[in-house]
Amino acid sequence: MEQTFVMIKPDGVQRGLTGEIISRIERKGLRIVAMRMCQVTDETARRHYAEHVEKPFFNSLIEFITSSPAVPMIVEGAGAVSVMRTIAGATDPKESLVGTIRGDFGLDVGRNLIHSADSLESAKREIAIHFTEDEAVLYERAEERWVYE
Ligand code: RTP
Ligand code: MG
Repeated sequence: MEQTFVMIKPDGVQRGLTGEIISRIERKGLRIVAMRMCQVTDETARRHYAEHVEKPFFNSLIEFITSSPAVPMIVEGAGAVSVMRTIAGATDPKESLVGTIRGDFGLDVGRNLIHSADSLESAKREIAIHFTEDEAVLYERAEERWVYE
């Protein structure tokens, strides 16, 4: 089973959308195998978004992501990386399709509610930044034989 890294950003938590977002992930049939509520530190945020260090929005992105609690998680399932990107929607919520998390709840690229790793390689890198190996639990959801053939 593929694993991806997902994080409900501070705006998602502050707007009371944590449950709604988790619910969408669960209803898709994906399995959450690690999750916590925490305030992301400056150091962790800089490591996480290292690829954007030269971008003009880097400082405001770090400030935002560390400004209030977030909910990082490891999500597992068939094609989890691309499926989660689809559920999240396009980066700019003004352009994200209705039916996606960003498309349904966002309006501003700097307040787009959810992060989701963009490749298997990024997922592995980000999981290692936010979680230790023993934090991921091993289990099956009872409904999985009704989700997968
Ligand atoms: P994320 O990494 O947060 O899941 O978002 P993403 O892959 O869809 O987009 P990415 O290009 O990785 O950008 C990371 C985050 O930076 C903010 N951003 N602001 N002002 C801007 O033009 C701009 N572009 C990107 C967004 O919050 C984006 O999610
Ligand atoms: Mg990204």
